[in-house]
Amino acid sequence: MELDLKEIHDFAVGVAEAAGKVLLTRSSLVKNKANSVDLVTEVDEKVEAIIKKEIALRYPEHNFLGEETYSAGSLRVYAIGDEPTWCVDPIDGTVNYVHLFPMICVSIGFTYQGKSVVGAIHAPYLNQTFSAYQGGGAWVNRTTRLPYQNHPLAADAPRGCVFACEWGKDRRDEPNSNLSRKVDSFVNMATEIGGRNGMGGMVHGIRSLGSAALDLCYVATGAFDIWWEGGCWEWDVCAGVIIVQEAGGLVTTANPPDSTESPVPDVGLGSRLYLAIRPAVATESESSRDA
Ligand code: IPD
Repeated sequence: MELDLKEIHDFAVGVAEAAGKVLLTRSSLVKNKANSVDLVTEVDEKVEAIIKKEIALRYPEHNFLGEETYSAGSLRVYAIGDEPTWCVDPIDGTVNYVHLFPMICVSIGFTYQGKSVVGAIHAPYLNQTFSAYQGGGAWVNRTTRLPYQNHPLAADAPRGCVFACEWGKDRRDEPNSNLSRKVDSFVNMATEIGGRNGMGGMVHGIRSLGSAALDLCYVATGAFDIWWEGGCWEWDVCAGVIIVQEAGGLVTTANPPDSTESPVPDVGLGSRLYLAIRPAVATESESSRDA
């Protein structure tokens, strides 16, 4: 099948930006989904319906997987197959949206042969649109090519890194303590590596934006060195995966502290666990973050 990825990309960017305007309206209706921290608002549902309609008009032969359509149980099979499939999160960061924290976005991904090949992520409060298509590079607001940070990844990373992670929506004891242990061991590993080198190095910071899609965008820009989450769905990551990959970064399904696990580069979708590492950019300012 011949697909014009640039055309699909341009269409996705336009739809994401138009949908972003609707996100700026406030929603009064908040409902619970799987549990009391898994939220959906009437704006999530409205925006997904708008995006779904636009896609059906332009590409009636393509499949559609949307977070709210899936949650509503109207989708019989959610596994992404080989056929062209749109994978949409109308609001990634719904908890942020409800709590008026501006890190929210519309995330529109497109897959072919089981891989993410187009991504458009629009963050309306930030006025930023991150986008990419396979072979076309990754961009912010169509004009600035990613990555735009020029500091290289430290040779002894994770020392000196900004590590981002998300906490997902599973509040049972076991998954949570597991997650805290992973973050802990990552930070300890950084401290230990720094100590061994006599540098006293540690991670520079730990961040959690509340939006997996935006985390991936900031891995692509180079702001975040490493991102990890163990509870994502396809719609959370589909667009962000290709944006990181086209920026020159890596997305795998490994746990950062487990050296026994072999990373699988160029990962397909369908995992719940993802690790992304930002593009390693070598410049003359190589030592600027060593202090
Ligand atoms: C959630 C966010 C959050 C992540 C969850 C996602 P939603 O998506 O990306 O950061 O921890 O795993 O489900 O519900 O806001 O679209």
